[in-house]
Amino acid sequence: MRTVHSLKELRSMLRSARQQGKTIGLVPTMGNLHEGHVSLVRKASEAADVVVTSIFVNPMQFGANEDLDKYPRTLAEDQDKLASAGNTLVFAPSPEEIYPEGLARQTKVVVPDVSESHCGASRPGHFEGVATVVTMLFNMVQPDFAVFGEKDFQQLAVIRKLTRDLLIPVEIIGAPTVREDDGLAKSSRNGFLSKQERAIAPVVYQTLANIATQLTQGRTDHDSLEREACEALSQAGLRPDYFNIVNSHTLEPATATDQEITLLVAAFLGTTRLIDNLSITR
Ligand code: PAF
Repeated sequence: MRTVHSLKELRSMLRSARQQGKTIGLVPTMGNLHEGHVSLVRKASEAADVVVTSIFVNPMQFGANEDLDKYPRTLAEDQDKLASAGNTLVFAPSPEEIYPEGLARQTKVVVPDVSESHCGASRPGHFEGVATVVTMLFNMVQPDFAVFGEKDFQQLAVIRKLTRDLLIPVEIIGAPTVREDDGLAKSSRNGFLSKQERAIAPVVYQTLANIATQLTQGRTDHDSLEREACEALSQAGLRPDYFNIVNSHTLEPATATDQEITLLVAAFLGTTRLIDNLSITR
């Protein structure tokens, strides 16, 4: 497995792969890899001859008061995990390589509607940063397909829309969330939790599962269910940002007759913001 840091090296390696008729799969990440990421790489390696994992802590998607500086940079450990997961090439550029003119002068990609609610409402500019860097990664790597985790449900919807709208010839593949035994979704941010917070964190998934059960049993009073979910999170010691019951395709509030429904949640535990989701069909 090779690691390259510049676009020039990346392009030259991929040019020869393409000339040999090889298929290319991309797994975009911000590093600090866990089993969730490894599952994305394994999925990509089942279908592609060459798997490129990008590791780039994208400054454009962090707000001014967010955790850009303390976001863990763990390239050596990440390389070990990727090598055993069937990855071929790591692309680990610097911010200067991606944004040579700086963030303020960078052309940006704005994805309307699906970016605006939920995390988009709480983190202004976040999805603009994600959409911009993902579009650039698609142009840099020109993969046949790219794999993203369903844990970031709204992010996946944003990426599907930008790919469709901008006619980018890349297939987008969603991969299921990987969970700890107690239900907590694997996330790089779990590492920020204290021992005490870690013990509370599974309440996020338990609340999703509980509300999902009530929906499948026929409740359609979504506003009350959302309130009950927020109360359960607060009682456990979390600070809910939102708990929204949405149509799985539009991410708009679900109606009583919608059949494919997704429960989206974001909640703070101390200073750590956890997100998760659960989809059901009723
Ligand atoms: O999900 C992530 O890790 C990031 O948002 C992504 C898709 C790599 C873009 O920076």
